[in-house]
Amino acid sequence: MQRTALVTGADRGLGLALVEGLLDRGWRVFAGQYMAEWPALGELAERHAKALAIVPLDVGSIASVQAAAAAVTREAGHLDLIISNAGVSSPAMKRPISEAQDYEEMHRLYDVNTLGSLRVVEAFLPLMAQGELKRLCFVSSEAGSITTARRTSWYSYCMSKAALNMAVKIMFNDLHPEGYTFRLYHPGWMRTYMSGTKGTAADLEPEEAAAKALPIFLNARADEDRLVMVDYCGVEWPF
Ligand SMILES: NC(=O)c1ccc[n+]([C@@H]2O[C@H](COP(=O)([O-])OP(=O)(O)OC[C@H]3O[C@@H](n4cnc5c(N)ncnc54)[C@H](OP(=O)(O)O)[C@@H]3O)[C@@H](O)[C@H]2O)c1
Repeated sequence: MQRTALVTGADRGLGLALVEGLLDRGWRVFAGQYMAEWPALGELAERHAKALAIVPLDVGSIASVQAAAAAVTREAGHLDLIISNAGVSSPAMKRPISEAQDYEEMHRLYDVNTLGSLRVVEAFLPLMAQGELKRLCFVSSEAGSITTARRTSWYSYCMSKAALNMAVKIMFNDLHPEGYTFRLYHPGWMRTYMSGTKGTAADLEPEEAAAKALPIFLNARADEDRLVMVDYCGVEWPF
């Protein structure tokens, strides 16, 4: 069976670079498209007509996630790897608690960054059960680490990633005994589009970040029985 992956939030940033990296390694990839108007994924699909399939995928909508899973079921019948990468931030998250919080926006971040991963695993689990590798990867953030938290704002983003970490821990308890292996990952500070336009000040281009992430996502670890959050240098973070 050809190794087959799903990547969410694949239009640009880290997700797009992960798709390219998987294609370069000979994987068949289903790329979750959220921004139909953004051309990069379509251009990549033209260069990889056989190996890359684009599936419309809004992780904030269970109907969209289920439709994507049905499309992958029709085309492939199995998955070996899910990279749950889609994520959002918001300028409103920078408000300290002395200012009015934007609760609607907080709900949106939680819905995408936390519940999005649950929707994806729920809908795609039957496909993963048919695959061989059974690897579930979650792009979290150092911002979700309660132990190391130093920020004095960013409530919504930090809380959404801390809650994601808990969700992954519960999934690990449930699914690791069935043979699933997990990666909980901080990709580093990247020059991506989280602020709406491409960041320039950050440490890593998305391609560099993907080159660091993929060996961690794909290679076996000696201690698969332990759920750890690691960063792009392989350093373990308390969470
Ligand atoms: N950038 C960093 O320094 C950094 C650091 C630590 C962790 N991370 C995490 O890394 C992951 C990738 O982020 P990135 O930096 O590559 O950001 P990005 O360039 O904004 O890429 C994320 C992609 O996900 C899309 N998306 C938004 N809502 C979605 C939804 N409901 N369903 C599916 N896709 C959706 C985004 O579309 P829109 O552009 O329309 O929102 C965007 O195309 C995220 O989980 C992020 O939290 C990033």
